[in-house]
Amino acid sequence: MTPEILKWIILLSSIIFLILVNIVANKITNAEFDFYNTLRNDNRDLEKYDLFGFATFTDFLGVPYFFKKFIDSLHSMYKKPAFVFNTYGIISGKTLIHMNRLVNLKGFNIIAGHSLHTPESYPPMPARGNGNEQAPNKREMKNFDNFISEFDGLLNFIKEGKEIKKPIMGNNFLDYILPAYARTHAKQDMGNKYVDDKLCDQCGICKKKCPYGAIELNPIPIFDMNKCYGCWACYNHCPKLAIYTKKFRGIGHYPKPHKNLVEKLRI
Ligand SMILES: Cc1cc2nc3c(=O)[nH]c(=O)nc-3n(C[C@H](O)[C@H](O)[C@H](O)COP(=O)(O)O)c2cc1C
Ligand code: SF4
Ligand code: SF4
Repeated sequence: MTPEILKWIILLSSIIFLILVNIVANKITNAEFDFYNTLRNDNRDLEKYDLFGFATFTDFLGVPYFFKKFIDSLHSMYKKPAFVFNTYGIISGKTLIHMNRLVNLKGFNIIAGHSLHTPESYPPMPARGNGNEQAPNKREMKNFDNFISEFDGLLNFIKEGKEIKKPIMGNNFLDYILPAYARTHAKQDMGNKYVDDKLCDQCGICKKKCPYGAIELNPIPIFDMNKCYGCWACYNHCPKLAIYTKKFRGIGHYPKPHKNLVEKLRI
């Protein structure tokens, strides 16, 4: 028996995805969506879903470590269809390929994958004037739209109980040849973090946003450098711009999707 409406869950961790998946949801009519923030760590019953989406951003040419750990922690879902999706600022690298492998290892049947070029959330880039604020360009948007249409077609196949033999995958040549960048460089590149105690109002947002549990408030943030991965989430999300490094202070923050991107995705 195949369901009339597919129950679909998207497991996500990134700034843009709640907007993105709402757009996709509007374009796709034969599936009901739920979202699951992989950082929230609640015990949602995943067994009831027919279709799974895994969505994250490129982190040093690969999958963010906390997202990899999240996929590792899932029980096997035995042949449930799944798609993988990522955003990237310059080069997606191995992200989609690694997501594909991780999700496959859990027994999912990958039916589609796509990478979307979006503005840079890695603060050193916008701080140096390389924020890619215009991404995605027209061609990339068209590719994204085509992907959504093809994907919609696949959903009909699934509803009819047919097996998808060949996934729709949008990798480019560079993705295959580039290695993932060693994650240890990220922490080195960021260096020590400091807090301006005149700006910090001890709101705790940085602690909440840290994917690696590396921040304690005492009463201003203290960083545990053994746990820190140099992901810049605390820097990006501090509303007072109180967190700074040796090289970057008060510049390059990306706490929410760029307005150009939001406008483009509303079309
Ligand atoms: C710590 C960190 C590392 C990143 N590494 C890369 C990278 O290797 N390649 C890339 O193209 N973008 C990289 N980015 C940029 C993001 O992948 C990109 O801006 C993405 O579109 C952000 O998606 P979001 O707004 O949905 O979170 C990195 C961002 C961060 C914060
Ligand atoms: S988010 Fe900023 S203002 Fe809030 S506690 Fe952290 S450093 Fe202080
Ligand atoms: S950079 Fe900030 S948010 Fe990221 S792991 Fe380190 S302390 Fe946590």
